[in-house]
Order: sequence, then C-alpha cells, then structure tokens
Amino acid sequence: MKKQISLGVLFLLCLLPLCAQQSLLPTPASMRLAKGTFVIGKDIRVQGSNGYTAQLGAQLQAELRTLASSASSSPGSIRLSIDKESAMPKEGYSLIITPTDVLLQASDEAGLFYAKEALLQLARSGKGVLGACRIEDSPRYEWRGFMLDESRHFFGKEKVKQYLDIMASLRLNVFHWHLTDEPGWRIEIKRYPKLTSEGSVGNWHDPKAPAAFYTQEDIKEIVAYAAQRHIMVIPEFDMPGHATAVCRSYPEISGGGEGKWEHFTFHPCKEETYQFISNVLDEIVSLFPAPYIHIGGDEVHYGNQSWFTDPDIQQFIRDKKLQNETGLEHYFIRRAADIVASKGKTMIGWDEVVDAGVSPQKAVIMWWRHDRKHQLVKALENGFRVIMTPRRPLYADFVQYATHKVGRTWNGYNPIEDIYRFPAPIIHLTKDYENQVMGMQFSLWTERVADIKRLDFMTFPRLIAVAEAAWTPEKAKECSSFMRKLPSFLEYLDTLGIYYFNPFDPASTPEPDAPAKEDVLQNG
Ligand code: ACM
Repeated sequence: MKKQISLGVLFLLCLLPLCAQQSLLPTPASMRLAKGTFVIGKDIRVQGSNGYTAQLGAQLQAELRTLASSASSSPGSIRLSIDKESAMPKEGYSLIITPTDVLLQASDEAGLFYAKEALLQLARSGKGVLGACRIEDSPRYEWRGFMLDESRHFFGKEKVKQYLDIMASLRLNVFHWHLTDEPGWRIEIKRYPKLTSEGSVGNWHDPKAPAAFYTQEDIKEIVAYAAQRHIMVIPEFDMPGHATAVCRSYPEISGGGEGKWEHFTFHPCKEETYQFISNVLDEIVSLFPAPYIHIGGDEVHYGNQSWFTDPDIQQFIRDKKLQNETGLEHYFIRRAADIVASKGKTMIGWDEVVDAGVSPQKAVIMWWRHDRKHQLVKALENGFRVIMTPRRPLYADFVQYATHKVGRTWNGYNPIEDIYRFPAPIIHLTKDYENQVMGMQFSLWTERVADIKRLDFMTFPRLIAVAEAAWTPEKAKECSSFMRKLPSFLEYLDTLGIYYFNPFDPASTPEPDAPAKEDVLQNG
C-alpha cells in the first residue's frame, strides 16, 4: 500500500514539470514532450554568441535568475542562436529542452525573442524546472494586435508599458493606439500647441477633466519600449469624423456639426485643413517608425450635418462633381491617403474606406462592422489587405459574461470562447484571399472604461484568447485545452496585480462599474 502511494506521488511529481510545460500560451504549432527535466538555479548561465543573441542572452539570464528554483542549475548551458539561412518562417522559433541543454533558435530577431518569451513562461509555470521537450513554432497571422482608446479615457505611460510586457509574453506584435477622438487629443504636436493645451482637456464622462496627453518624449520612450519587445506601434489620427478635440481647438478647420456633434468633422473643402493634417502627420511620422498610419475614416455621418447646409460645401460638391456628401467624404479619404503616401507610409482605415476609391496599394482595411460581412468580402475582392476586428467577437468594450451589465451588447456579447474560436465562423469568407488577410486584433473602446481596474477587467483574460486565435494554427487549437492552460497565465497576471475577470469563478471578480453618462450605443 505504502509503495503504491509513494509510486503515485512519484508519478505525479514526474508529471509536474510536464503539466507546467503544457501551459504555454499561445499554444505552439508543435510541441513534443521528452523525458527528464532541466533545472534553472540562481547560477544559471545563458550564452549568446554576439550582437542580438548576446544582448538577448544577457537579458534572459537576468530574468531566469529571478525565476530560479532553489536547486542548483543543471550542468549544461542555455544557448541562443540566429541562423538567417535556416528555413524557419518569419517570427518562428524552435526551443529544445533536454536534461543537459536548452537551445533557442530562430532565423530572425523576433523569432528568437519569442523563443525567450516561451522559455520564460515555461520557467514561471514550472517554478524553475523545465520539462524536456521540443517546440517548433511560428505564427498563423503576421498582425496580432491590441487597440487601446486613450481619447475617451487616459491611462498613462506605466499602464501602457505593462500591457506591452504582457503582449510580448503572448507574442502579440501590434499596439494600435487610438490617440485622437471626440473627448480628447492625446499627443503633443509642437506646431499646434492648442491640440494639447485645449484639446487634451476632458474625457468621456467629464469634459473638464485635467489635460492628459503624451509628450513627444513619452511617445519615443513607449515606441522604443515596444520595439524592444518586437511590438509595432500604430498611431490613429481619426478623420474626417471623430475629430472633435482637434476642431474645437482649431475651429477655423472645423466642419461644423450640430448639438453634441458640433466640430465632429474637419472642414472637407478648405486647403487649410489638408495642410494642417499634413503638418500634424509630419510630426507623427517622425515619432512612429512603423510603415502604417491609421487615419480612421469611420462614422462620418454621425456629425456631418453642416455639410448638407453649408453653401460653400455644397458648391464644392458641385464644382468637383462629387455628387453628394458621401462623395465628398470619399474625396476627403482619397486626399488623406495621398498625404499619408507622400510621407512614405501606408494608410490604414476602418472598413468605410473600402468605398472611397482609394487604390488597394495605398490602404489597408480594418474590418469592424461584423453585421456587414459583405464589406469584408468587398475589401478582399477589391484587392485590399485586411485586418479583422469585428465588433463581435473582437471588441473588448462588449460584456464578456451573461450577468455582466456594463458594456455593449449586440444580439449577444463577447465571451472568451467566441474570441477563441475566431476566425472559424467567418473563414469561408476569406477563402481564396488568405494572402490578403494580415491578421486580427482586439479593440478596446473606453467610453465605459474610466479606470485601470475596469481596463484590466475588460482586457483580461480575453486578450489571451485573442493571442492564441491569432498565433496558433487551427489544427493545434482546442478550446477546452486552452481553458485548462489558462490558470497558469492568470497566475502571472496575479503577480502583476491585474484585475482580470475570472471565468472559473465569476463571483470572485465582481464587475467594476463605470461613471454614469448616457449609455454607449447598443446595437449601434
Ligand atoms: C468604430 O468602432 N467606430 C471603428
């Protein structure tokens, strides 16, 4: 009997590191378990030959020492290597753990970085003991993103950096930063100081909230921080609508608007407007090295009432033979695309842009209107590259659990399982256009997210499912196995003090409220 128990305990102990290993998220394309363990002690040494491998190796060594077990290290070494000639796909990596050695290999720096992040996750969950295994991994999609709206509410540099750390661990590689909209303009532009002295005052629930914005030095710091984690930062400067914060600061380029939509659009006919946009973009382009600039282009009809009545605007429509106000909107988008292209960048726009007559060489489309699947299809048929962030299931401001009350719904809500399954329910629409689908992102609008507790709650754990949906090949995905591995990542979030929704014990994480204001649109 005693022997049986001790054998059972031994068996469980042997399984421990293996279980820990299996909690690697996102799930790798291929992972084969082997016999034995590699122990990381405080004396662990990591070797990189030179350049990036040496730099990343030194970082990995410091990080592993903080995660070390109390035992001393296995005798062998941890080595990093980049072989540019290898057949490994872009961002792919291999991680081989044996009882004597650990080898991280990739054909590019991003891949090696992901090997390091995978190893750190394994070390964290295994408490410094790694089960032997061989992982061969590469991403399903090149665009694995998260969008944060800091116009509606501002969260600040330290929170953004924390999210970039978590994104790196999840192998997410795009931070789409929605910095301009109705309540506030959040980025210093030296040529137009009123954008921040006036435009950054206020937020969604309090129009008098103190000025809050990122200085250009802050932006450089965050972009560099992201780059070290192989995350590209894409700024969004929304136009011609959602431009309220700009147009109330510089009313000479405002397109008018009525009531709560006053100053919602740029003036679409003044050359001064396009010069202003070009000047602002000069500064934005100098701060963000990514090849893309997001110019919005969504929901112009909300606040373009003055376009229908302003005699100059009506004359402009006739002179330019634009037919109507929608034609004028499309003219604006084409001008914006040309300005962005003149700065050597490619424009990204929300899916309204598909209809604007912009060349698919000049624009990438973000599909967001889940109820307009034909807009996704049209974008693909017209040759555009597409990033998928349909409201259902990829908007993070939708509630995530049946009893939750704060947040959006639309014939349902966005539970973690729906996110996990994406894009399977719409994959037939993208068939034959796989090369044009760049990937997907989780987008968090923050009308009803006024503080960090609610920010965390809406983001996690759903962002983890987004990471797996965007990284892991369909054949390696399995929702129940993902849910089994999730607690290990949640433990990591615990160490960071993140207030995530706990899907395993919903009552333990009550839904944080948001300040009252008119509700954001439901089904709209
Ligand atoms: C959007 O949600 N208006 C892109």
